[in-house]
Amino acid sequence: MTETMIAVIGGSGIYDIDGLDDATWTTVETPWGAPSDQILTGRLDGVKMAFLPRHGRGHVHAPTDVPYRANIDALKRLGATDVISVSACGSFREEMAPGDFVVVDQFIDRTFAREKSFFSSGCVAHVALAHPTCPRLSDAVEDAARAAHINVHRGGTYLAMEGPQFSTLAESKMYREQWGADVIGMTNMPEAKLAREAELCYASVAMVTDYDSWHPDHGEVDVTAVIATLKGNSEKGRTLIKGLPARLGSTRAPCPHGCDRALEYAIMTAKEK
Ligand code: ADE
Repeated sequence: MTETMIAVIGGSGIYDIDGLDDATWTTVETPWGAPSDQILTGRLDGVKMAFLPRHGRGHVHAPTDVPYRANIDALKRLGATDVISVSACGSFREEMAPGDFVVVDQFIDRTFAREKSFFSSGCVAHVALAHPTCPRLSDAVEDAARAAHINVHRGGTYLAMEGPQFSTLAESKMYREQWGADVIGMTNMPEAKLAREAELCYASVAMVTDYDSWHPDHGEVDVTAVIATLKGNSEKGRTLIKGLPARLGSTRAPCPHGCDRALEYAIMTAKEK
């Protein structure tokens, strides 16, 4: 058995949580540079927790500039076993309304200006990514959301775009109608890929703030409306997170889906003799 550490990578508004025992902001150095910010560690109901503000406190890193590799590496160094991504998203589905949460399970990666791997020439690895999120962790997130009376949707395809601009109407319609995406955001890739390479279980809860630009009754995305919805959502997000320690426990067995062994057959480069 391994000691559980639940790491929350919070988007705007979810940097910390009340009731965290031994709360300490820790500076972590990594070979990939500094993470987005210091990491808040502590215990919630006896379970180790870590909180990393994805955009930094004060929202200083644009989605393209978030140091994704340093963030995942810093959490791994601290002992994280389970990573929950919390982020804002636009919705391509009428039924996924602003204020709802979506526990996404698939991604389409349209980002193009980010470092996406810990591996390159010198040490080549190809991890499996057909199922990029951990069903065990997603179960816990869904269950905690339902217990918190959040309108939650289980499963969905998240289109990760580069940003920082929102999509054009033509892109929005194409992602929705031709590509079958359910939600859109700017941060879950390459985060999910890197978590898999780091052998961390990863689940993502995307909080719907808007209907992107496809919806005939809703017009363009408006940052003021996005922020207003986010403010309402962040309290719900905190309640969800508070329900996780009881569901995940303070120790854990190997992941039944193998997330924690993702590199077992992935590394191509021969070991040095
Ligand atoms: N984050 C919140 N709403 C979004 C949208 N419509 N597109 C991309 N990222 C978002």
